[in-house]
Amino acid sequence: MGRAKEDAFLYEKIADELGEMIARGALRPGERLPSVRRMSEERGVSVATVVAAYQLLEHRGAAEPRPKSGHFVRARAGADTPVPTTARRAPAPTRVSIHADADDLIQVMLQARRGQVPLGCAYVATELLPLRKLNAILAQVAREGGGPGGEYADLRGSLQLRRQLARRAVRWGVALEPDELVTTLGATDALNLALASVTRPGDVIALESPTYFAFMRMLEHHGLRAIEIPTDPQTGLDLDALDDALRRAPVRAVLCSPNFQNPLGARMPDEQKERLVKMVARRGVALIEDDVYGDLAHDGSRPRAAKSFDRDGSVLLVGSMSKTLAPGYRVGWLAPGRWDEAVVRKKSAMTLACPTPTEMAVAELLDEGGYDRHLRRLRRAIADQCARYREAIARSFPEGTRVSRPQGGFVLWVELPQGTSGIALQAEALERGIAIAPGPIFSARQRFQSCIRISTGFPFSPRIERAIATLGKIAEELAPKRAA
Ligand SMILES: Cc1ncc(COP(=O)(O)O)c(C=O)c1O
Repeated sequence: MGRAKEDAFLYEKIADELGEMIARGALRPGERLPSVRRMSEERGVSVATVVAAYQLLEHRGAAEPRPKSGHFVRARAGADTPVPTTARRAPAPTRVSIHADADDLIQVMLQARRGQVPLGCAYVATELLPLRKLNAILAQVAREGGGPGGEYADLRGSLQLRRQLARRAVRWGVALEPDELVTTLGATDALNLALASVTRPGDVIALESPTYFAFMRMLEHHGLRAIEIPTDPQTGLDLDALDDALRRAPVRAVLCSPNFQNPLGARMPDEQKERLVKMVARRGVALIEDDVYGDLAHDGSRPRAAKSFDRDGSVLLVGSMSKTLAPGYRVGWLAPGRWDEAVVRKKSAMTLACPTPTEMAVAELLDEGGYDRHLRRLRRAIADQCARYREAIARSFPEGTRVSRPQGGFVLWVELPQGTSGIALQAEALERGIAIAPGPIFSARQRFQSCIRISTGFPFSPRIERAIATLGKIAEELAPKRAA
């Protein structure tokens, strides 16, 4: 390896480590970073490498130089979002029927694509994805004989893909055989198969609060009731509140994302994942774990899935390639645990078979080994984007605004000053060609009226900066005026 390349790796590594310490609060806003000389001696790296690392942190908005004093952790106007709940206790289960207005809001957001500033839906810019390579593999797969596409795939899905996924599962801390996996049409199909296999209409599902808005649509579709569990923006589901809910309500399944939850970006610590899995196993409750953001840790690590603590098949693990590779390929999977037979039966009834060519193309890409290199680049890009969007929000939004500090994924949860309507902000923003997601769609009870979610999936640019400044101005206008 050439020295230049080694240095490139080192300065990023140092910047990532320091960034992680800042994210964890081990280095606080306003605190001085070690001097360049000290850092260079301690790490045994050149002064130039440390300078490059500090410049990268500066670029990410995490540190700032002060004349003749060194580098400091940047003070942020937006504090971390507090636990977004008014009560520690989960309210009683509620039948999910999405209010027509909320449904309209979701519809508006999903359709808000062309020409609008894309801060609404959670997907990354195509330029960050290896689509050219993946499409070339797909073309090659299609050229090689009439096999793929000419026959129905195995009911469980392409064996080649399941083998690759079983190999990758080691990184999630999970030991899986290819025959313990079922491929699906994205995570959405996997989640629906899981819900259809585990529940009957009228059952109660415990959800994080706030949670991914499409979960509410799924629950409504399956005739289920929701119980919303308070969720911490850093550590995820409040397990004491969940335990309490499991005692009080006949909960059939817990549906959650322990790794980089959408919309908060929370990462549940491993001990809590273990406690969660033990809790559901003890009560015979299913845990549907949505891990679509698991590969997108900002600090480069790959957290374990809660499924890694599963001893009796209580956990149904859901994943897909939509957030990291190609949402349009619709390649997802499900490791159904003890619901395996039920899931395979449901798949035969609902889908029969997934498209083979796309599954084979993804399997080939995984086999080639280029996926990990791509993931490293993607993680760095989204960590950088998140930091820069966060900074822009802190600069532009009214006082009293709070912004989440996600540890992975690429969405930000913004709590506006009390009384400011997230729905009004969405409407005004749309008028000006900016798409965002309003808070109430992330709750079965339309809570979080003063919140919005901003997706940071696109590289930061002057256009995005202007859009965030515009959002800040609208929020300022909408914020209730304090009496003079
Ligand atoms: C938590 C979560 N699960 C699932 C999905 C959908 O995944 P897919 O496109 O693979 O169906 C999304 C997309 O935003 C998501 O945020």
